[in-house]
Amino acid sequence: MNIGQFTLANALFVAPMAGVTDRPFRQLCKALGAGYAVSEMVTSRRDLWNTLKTSRRANHDGEPGPIAVQIAGTDAQMMAAAAAYNIDRGAQIIDINMGCPAKKVCNKWAGSALMQDEPLALEIVAAVVAACEPHKVPVTLKMRTGWSQANKNAVRIALAAQEAGVQMVTVHGRTREQGYGGHAEYDTISAVKAALRIPVVANGDINSPEKARDVLASTGADAVMMGRAAQGRPWIFREVAHFLAHGTHLAPPLVADVKRLLVDHLRDHYDLYGEFLGVRTARKHIGWYVKALPGGEDFRNRMNLMESCGQQTTAVANFFDELGARMDRIPGTGADCAASSDQDHAGGSLAGENKDKINRLRKEEKWRQQHEQEAH
Ligand SMILES: Cc1cc2nc3c(=O)[nH]c(=O)nc-3n(C[C@H](O)[C@H](O)[C@H](O)COP(=O)(O)O)c2cc1C
Repeated sequence: MNIGQFTLANALFVAPMAGVTDRPFRQLCKALGAGYAVSEMVTSRRDLWNTLKTSRRANHDGEPGPIAVQIAGTDAQMMAAAAAYNIDRGAQIIDINMGCPAKKVCNKWAGSALMQDEPLALEIVAAVVAACEPHKVPVTLKMRTGWSQANKNAVRIALAAQEAGVQMVTVHGRTREQGYGGHAEYDTISAVKAALRIPVVANGDINSPEKARDVLASTGADAVMMGRAAQGRPWIFREVAHFLAHGTHLAPPLVADVKRLLVDHLRDHYDLYGEFLGVRTARKHIGWYVKALPGGEDFRNRMNLMESCGQQTTAVANFFDELGARMDRIPGTGADCAASSDQDHAGGSLAGENKDKINRLRKEEKWRQQHEQEAH
């Protein structure tokens, strides 16, 4: 599997997810079998490039290549400038976001909303390709199947993008109108694949080795991309890789190994975000890891009250040590314990005295999420 001049380790990709696929998470997924990862999107708004948030997103220290950065925006020249800015900071591939359903840039809808305005979408593609060409940086495009059920224009946009010089297209099998509701469909992805000569990547609801195999077979896609299924289960990539190669399932990971990789993940996470933000943004990752484990819900509620890196790491280590005393391997690593929304990790049934604190933390988390949405 190639993107331009880059040969990838395999055809299993981590999806870009704002607030999730930061550098520590991408590195972890790559270490656990993902062949390729795209960064969280970076805004095309120049006034935000110097914010801590954007500079964290543009930080690729120690990340194995190729370094792919996703950019989002609604103005062709601003998008071209954003591509150049990220190339200067180490991007080797630029991905254009036409897949995200809910991001506003300069009071205009960016992401998948661009699919409603084909001339603008193609103007952006042409400007970004022109900015990347002198640096020999391939441009890729991530899109949905269309704007709405009645307007599935993925094939038309993908073909035009290919003619404009785009070197890979990823299609999430939902329309923008669907958001994340309903189910992904793969017929439109098959149609895109049949129409294009560049690589096509299938995305949406792929959460098990069998599903990856079936989607690859039914669409003829060159690769599959997984997002939510990797939350709290970054080893899904090696599970899928093993299944595709051998037709058998890998044993679930050892509890001791998951403890080690989560503690390492947390250390990288705190290094990037610092203590205050690091502890708060780590809660969702920890919540995903423990969600389906015995005692996980209870632990998550207690862990959400902790405010220091030391406390959080020790609690995680103790949780997995106690689990390890009862079982060797992580139970039930099926699709059921992976995909979950970004919003459902703040709490559960708790004793009365903790409720105020939980509510405060929920408000803090909501504020953080809103702030993130507004900034991009
Ligand atoms: C929390 C979250 C953040 C996301 N952020 C982005 C993003 O920044 N850029 C993008 O193209 N897609 C984004 N997506 C969409 C995913 O890349 C992917 O297309 C979608 O989740 C469907 O794949 P899945 O079913 O494997 O999760 C995001 C999805 C989630 C759940």
